[in-house]
Amino acid sequence: MISRRNFLLTAPAALASAHSLALLPLWAAEKPSVYIPGEDGMIVRSERFFDLEMPPEFFDSWITPVSHFFVRNHMHEPSTIDAGTWRLSIGGEVEKPLTLSLKDLERMPRHSVTNTLECAGNGRAFQEPHVPGIQWQKGAVGNARFSGPRLRDVLERAGMRPTGKHIMFHGLDEVPGKVPPFIRSIPMEKALDEDTLIATRMNGSTLPKHHGFPARAMVPGWIGAASCKWLSEIKVLDQEFDGNFMKPGYRMPNHPLKPGEPLNVEDSHVVTALNVKSAISSPVEGAVVKSKLQRVHGAAWAGEVNIEKVEISTDEGATWQKAQLGPEQAKYAWRLWDYVWKVPQSGDYTIMSRATDSQGRVQPAIGEWNPGGYLYNAIDQVKVNAQL
Ligand code: MTE
Repeated sequence: MISRRNFLLTAPAALASAHSLALLPLWAAEKPSVYIPGEDGMIVRSERFFDLEMPPEFFDSWITPVSHFFVRNHMHEPSTIDAGTWRLSIGGEVEKPLTLSLKDLERMPRHSVTNTLECAGNGRAFQEPHVPGIQWQKGAVGNARFSGPRLRDVLERAGMRPTGKHIMFHGLDEVPGKVPPFIRSIPMEKALDEDTLIATRMNGSTLPKHHGFPARAMVPGWIGAASCKWLSEIKVLDQEFDGNFMKPGYRMPNHPLKPGEPLNVEDSHVVTALNVKSAISSPVEGAVVKSKLQRVHGAAWAGEVNIEKVEISTDEGATWQKAQLGPEQAKYAWRLWDYVWKVPQSGDYTIMSRATDSQGRVQPAIGEWNPGGYLYNAIDQVKVNAQL
């Protein structure tokens, strides 16, 4: 893992030598600098495609600022998008295929949803045995306010046929080589939900490039992959889309597997809603605790349902105490939580956080292993040393 700060320290030299060797201008270098103004502190998981993780200390704000919001790209971002000429087509099982401009979308009634967006692979790095894929730890997740027209209003304008069962999204990613394009679909029921949007704004401003400018799907409470960025096409299908990113990608076994067991695609389902989960923001792993009253805080979320409680243990899970939930709440949004730990004496401790949701789901001690590394949600923990 390299932090962006480290990357920036080493990048100029690497780029300069590549530059002089190939005699290329910097803008033509194969691997451009990953510098993003205002995104200091993010962990760079991949430079080839943009994959940025939020460090745990930023779980301290109910709304995640864009500069700290994780980025997950499967391929290259579109190199240019002109908002003036950009168009969104709506076709398939509809009576009147449509082409909408950004202005058309902006003229439609606008709805807002504060949504905790989490990558299905968040926490993959903690799976034992290890599985391939981006080794996300805790921060492929963020909470932001997304706004734009409801998807159902757009679909209504196109007049859906009764044969329509799934809504397919296609973005403008630049697909390298023979890689299959990032195309996925969601079922009609979720597409017609009043909170499923075509988002054109994030935290009150124009949707940033890394997050899907000029418009993205926003499917609240579901894994991030459902929310296609740089949207160019919406197609009503008579069945679930079955391309690479739906099958074999983004699938969970119908029955728990033994660690290391392969996935039988025919006995699996597409990952949809998020799990119940919590993350400790502070203290951070390896911190030295010097105060007898130590503040422990973080965030907890549960996809389409609410967080009921968060409990903290500082004695290896023998006893649990309730944390105080923060005042800010919204359907699909995480809750911040706080706990004051009375540190009994100097020594090594493991602090654990365990969330329970309104459906009675509780974070398990060990996350369910699966070969995609999806929906990892084991009890969070950090090891600290108290020196009172
Ligand atoms: N949409 C397109 N077109 N291409 C992508 O690679 N990645 C998906 C989703 N939408 C992706 C996409 C995945 S896996 C996630 S987790 C979210 O976008 C991440 O959204 P963010 O980068 O705005 O945080």
